[in-house]
Amino acid sequence: MAVNYPLSNFTGIDIVPTFPVDTHPSNTAFEQVDITEGLPFPDNKFDFINIRFVLCLMQEKNLTFIFKEIMRVLKPGGWLEILDFTSDLINPGPAHRYFYNKYQALWRQRGINFYLISALPKYLRRYDLIDIHNEEKTTFFGKKGGVIGELCLKDWARVYITLKNSLCEFSSITSEAYCQLVEDFKTEVDDYHTAFKMSRTFAQKPRKKLLNL
Ligand SMILES: C[S@@+](CC[C@H](N)C(=O)[O-])C[C@H]1O[C@@H](n2cnc3c(N)ncnc32)[C@H](O)[C@@H]1O
Repeated sequence: MAVNYPLSNFTGIDIVPTFPVDTHPSNTAFEQVDITEGLPFPDNKFDFINIRFVLCLMQEKNLTFIFKEIMRVLKPGGWLEILDFTSDLINPGPAHRYFYNKYQALWRQRGINFYLISALPKYLRRYDLIDIHNEEKTTFFGKKGGVIGELCLKDWARVYITLKNSLCEFSSITSEAYCQLVEDFKTEVDDYHTAFKMSRTFAQKPRKKLLNL
């Protein structure tokens, strides 16, 4: 985006230093921030805030504070855009269903609302946001999804490998059995035509403070 919009300045945040230090466009900056501890920016700073694949990882108890902080640093008239995975899974095969159920149970145990993303348009009404839009897009894993589907399959297989220790401990399955399930997942998506839904929600902060009548 920084390359496509050279007249704008971009600030990225993450809890770990993921930003490339050697080379990056001059209109970008990065701050290492734990979003659950607040945003180190003044009020009304940003015209646009984009948050992608992060909210689905946040514990429910932190969400009100996170949204208050987002609203504080967003300029009046500015826009918030949230992209994330919904909890909807279409035509999962047995391996994928296994991961999905365990993942869901583990998230619940960690205080994360697995269904938050699908409920976002309703959830955002609690804040002063207006003009709330939502669109969902279905993407097939693997061959049926073309290049994007193949990349998503690789990405999700990597996510499941990353979660191996947590999910093995949580569900008392051996590491070997777990790795076999990841392999099964990679091949079964083409047989079952498995797909998932991505959600994009965007909304505007009013130019003037709404009166809470
Ligand atoms: C799935 S990745 C998405 C990365 C990036 N937003 C993107 O769309 O490519 C989730 C990111 O959230 C970051 N993250 C997790 N907890 C966080 C927190 N409390 N504060 C800030 N970032 C956090 C992780 O370090 C990770 O980089």
